[in-house]
Amino acid sequence: MSLVGALRGKGPSGFGYDSTAEDVTAGLDLTGRTILVTGCNSGLGLETARVLALRGARVVGAARTEEKAREALAPFAGEHLPVACELSEPASVRAAVQVVAEKAGPLDAIIANAGIMALPERNVSHGLELQFLTNHVGHFLLVTGLLDRLAPTARVVMLSSTAHTNTYAEGIRLDDLDASRGYTPWGAYGQSKLANLLFAKHLATRLPAGQTANSLHPGVIWTNLGRHMNPVVGFAATLISPLFLKTIPAGASTQTYVATHPDVAATTGEYFADCNIAKPSAHGRDAALAEALWTKTEELVAAL
Ligand SMILES: NC(=O)c1ccc[n+]([C@@H]2O[C@H](COP(=O)([O-])OP(=O)(O)OC[C@H]3O[C@@H](n4cnc5c(N)ncnc54)[C@H](OP(=O)(O)O)[C@@H]3O)[C@@H](O)[C@H]2O)c1
Repeated sequence: MSLVGALRGKGPSGFGYDSTAEDVTAGLDLTGRTILVTGCNSGLGLETARVLALRGARVVGAARTEEKAREALAPFAGEHLPVACELSEPASVRAAVQVVAEKAGPLDAIIANAGIMALPERNVSHGLELQFLTNHVGHFLLVTGLLDRLAPTARVVMLSSTAHTNTYAEGIRLDDLDASRGYTPWGAYGQSKLANLLFAKHLATRLPAGQTANSLHPGVIWTNLGRHMNPVVGFAATLISPLFLKTIPAGASTQTYVATHPDVAATTGEYFADCNIAKPSAHGRDAALAEALWTKTEELVAAL
């Protein structure tokens, strides 16, 4: 057990900071379930896909290219479906929706895991800041494109972050989504992760009974996500990682828990951390902001 895990203990779910994706699925038979995981080739997505496959699920693994997805899924037993999905390119996301719709059958869960973090410079594509485009708009297109492919008890699981608390003062700058009024790497990342959270919160109000949508913070884990960070910070992170950061198997647990565990089959519109329900920021609880973001994103994707 880690120092942090020992201090925090376990929550009401019976799981906690140190629980791994294997722990939270112990004894579960996921045979017959089909689960889409974006970003299946690295970090938390790769570990999530591995454990889902280990428990018998069929993984629809999305990565920027089909080749990357195929390589990631190759070591797993069972039949899985690799899909190309470059989230910052609407044409690629729409093509992925087509492939999944044609080849995957009903989806029991979508784990919207892929993401980028804290780009040092402002990047704009399709008129949108790149973290907002990739983390939020790409997943919005993917998930809403697949709503009619969800199984009656399907679960949509959005990777947010505790960084959603570290956004701009107004939460989401709906009138400045290309960040032309000012850009900070963490402000833009926080905004995109707040968008992931609010997307799940609002989606939960639109899904039919039986289907759920939730978001989560996976913990702080040293992965390729830190590739844009200062190398000195990165080196320091690898040094402190064993003491103060989660392992990748523990980092993959909350999304795996929310996507598969019977105890949360009916839980919807919530935010999780360490495999338990947690309280998001005031912006993260703002239903009006969630609805405004949804409406704005619908307008954006219609023009893309
Ligand atoms: N690690 C943490 O401490 C932490 C904390 C809070 C939240 N999270 C969230 O957890 C999720 C997983 O992060 P991670 O730590 O596992 O990071 P990671 O190892 O960098 O994995 C991110 C995945 O997203 C994919 N991706 C990035 N941009 C993409 C794009 N434009 N189109 C399609 N796929 C794209 C990456 O593909 P490539 O390998 O091809 O780039 C990779 O498969 C992210 O949403 C992140 O925001 C992580």
